[in-house]
Amino acid sequence: MSNDLENRLLDPQETVYDSVEADNPLRPLCLNEYIGQNKVKDNLSVFIKAAKIRREALDHVLLYGPPGLGKTTLSVIISKELGVNIKITSGPAIERPGDLAAILTSLKRGDVLFIDEIHRLSRSVEEILYPAMEDFSIDIVTGKGQMATSYHLPLEKFTLVGATTRAGQLTAPLRDRFGVVLRLELYSPEELSIIVKRSAGILGILIDEEGALEISSRSRGTPRIANRMLKRVRDFAQIINDGRITFEIAKNALNKLEVDELGLDSNDRKLLETLIRSYSGGPVGLETIASSIGEEAITVEDVYEPYLIQIGFLSRTSRGRCVTKAAYTHLGISAPNNNTEDQMKF
Ligand code: ADE
Repeated sequence: MSNDLENRLLDPQETVYDSVEADNPLRPLCLNEYIGQNKVKDNLSVFIKAAKIRREALDHVLLYGPPGLGKTTLSVIISKELGVNIKITSGPAIERPGDLAAILTSLKRGDVLFIDEIHRLSRSVEEILYPAMEDFSIDIVTGKGQMATSYHLPLEKFTLVGATTRAGQLTAPLRDRFGVVLRLELYSPEELSIIVKRSAGILGILIDEEGALEISSRSRGTPRIANRMLKRVRDFAQIINDGRITFEIAKNALNKLEVDELGLDSNDRKLLETLIRSYSGGPVGLETIASSIGEEAITVEDVYEPYLIQIGFLSRTSRGRCVTKAAYTHLGISAPNNNTEDQMKF
């Protein structure tokens, strides 16, 4: 990951700090406290209640959507609502089949196993997961050649909650083993504003309605960004005001942090401007965009694009990415004349 992205206030990727639950008092712990994602919450609530009535483990759940929307939070809530323990790990952290076998055999009846970035599991680890998910058993082979011995181990019935930013990268056999597949959407500014006010209350920060809305409308639909911005705006409020966050304080602080009214930062603007100045606004391939701004293609796809597409600044066509007229207007750059090529783009 580039330094730019590491230092990025708007980076929705989780930091070590965010991921430690005990250090993050902002995470809601039950569905009622969880704001937004109403369709997901309503459905989950039914599935959880039904599983509890039947005294069965909840079916395996796949959560997918852009980073920072609360997939880990939701998995913790699922375990709390079910009244079971949760083990949290991630695709890249499980290096060998034996690592996964050790985790699986430690689960108690009904427990939740959360695997973040599940699309990054290696093939050999994934193969252990298939029978574990389907038949609640694993086959482990130890030794090699003639010394090889195979063990069939039954497991307690458990619920796998998998999270991914890229459902399309899951193999079909893995995807097919999830009984519940839920897509998380970017949040509206109104929903984010409720989250910001809730977080301010927990952190003891004074904030008015307009201040909260200003932070949330610049947080690109992402609670993790909104909470991070709240903490940075609080710093400005303490130094230039009495600690109270108002519209003016939030606006000035976010301007100083170079986050514009729509939540775009210098990296977003660089991406759009590069597309406009070097490639006439597109169409341009993903790899070309990534190398021209010094990021990996996967980062452009997961971190930058979802919001730029959501606000209608970027469109994906079969020939590549195109900058829209709305983006030209926002950046104060005059859009090319409406010839046929441009009409196709816009
Ligand atoms: N913090 C992060 N995501 C949240 C959500 N959806 N609701 C409440 N607080 C949150």
